[in-house]
Amino acid sequence: MSVIVLGSINMDLVVHTARLPQPGETLMGKTFKTMPGGKGANQAVASTQLGATTHMLGRVGNDGFGETLLASLRQYGVGCDRITIDSSTPSGIALIEVGDTGENHIIVVPGANGNVGEDELQGLESLCQDATILLLQLEIPLDSVIAAAKIAHDHHVKVILDPAPAKSLPLDVYPFLDILTPNQTEAEQLTGLSITNSQTAIAAGKALQQRGVPIVIITMGEAGVVIVTDKTARHIPAFTVEAVDMVAAGDAFNGGLAAALVEEHPLDDAVMRGMATAALAVTQSGAQESMPNSQTFQAFLSQNYKH
Ligand code: RIB
Repeated sequence: MSVIVLGSINMDLVVHTARLPQPGETLMGKTFKTMPGGKGANQAVASTQLGATTHMLGRVGNDGFGETLLASLRQYGVGCDRITIDSSTPSGIALIEVGDTGENHIIVVPGANGNVGEDELQGLESLCQDATILLLQLEIPLDSVIAAAKIAHDHHVKVILDPAPAKSLPLDVYPFLDILTPNQTEAEQLTGLSITNSQTAIAAGKALQQRGVPIVIITMGEAGVVIVTDKTARHIPAFTVEAVDMVAAGDAFNGGLAAALVEEHPLDDAVMRGMATAALAVTQSGAQESMPNSQTFQAFLSQNYKH
């Protein structure tokens, strides 16, 4: 059984700088690199790297970035047969600034990701039969995300939505989701509640869970995660690591979570594995390049997670 990821594929244009600039301020950067990214593609790489058969559905432009992005996904072993090459629109890009403490600013220009629609939804229908999990994010049109959630739900494929970047979701989509994984900021934007600690995160999680999604997991970086279900609500502390680049930490979490659920790990254990994937990803630069492989992941688990 496999993971399907429907989502964005971007070329990341990444500048490292000592600190992030203020509005109107010019700073000298230290390095500039182009690196494959996109929340959807990053999640697909994370899940593949941990051994889950993973298919990517999405779009790149018919351009140099598109070629590089496809080659990168193929090299990781992600199933790319259903990725559309769109001659009408250039590949999506993300402008990313990373400061010395690992924090970042990201601006995404969706390009071809903005055309994801009917073709990809047909691809999803055909892949659902052999799939356990569909991973979704919000860098493609919201209508396509909603339609995909419904298709997967009808095929009894579990739907995980990472609502990033945050936008308000129609209330009738929540019942088609199985797991919602906002970060702290996204959960605040979705609920209008302020999150300052695990208790307020649990309150936000409950507010989201009451909209009809059975499981809400709010990720809070080094403050860990909270898991809210209809039966329980609990906080799990994060692994302690030295973060150098937080880009794609959420993608690593979602990819790691999906890979663990496909292997039928129980929810708490799958969440720990998602957290371990994210912990390892932030110790490396880049998005896809930072995703740990199985060997690194297992070594980290055996040192840091006894269960
Ligand atoms: O989550 C990180 C990703 O967000 C980057 O790779 C960038 O492409 C944006 O989509």
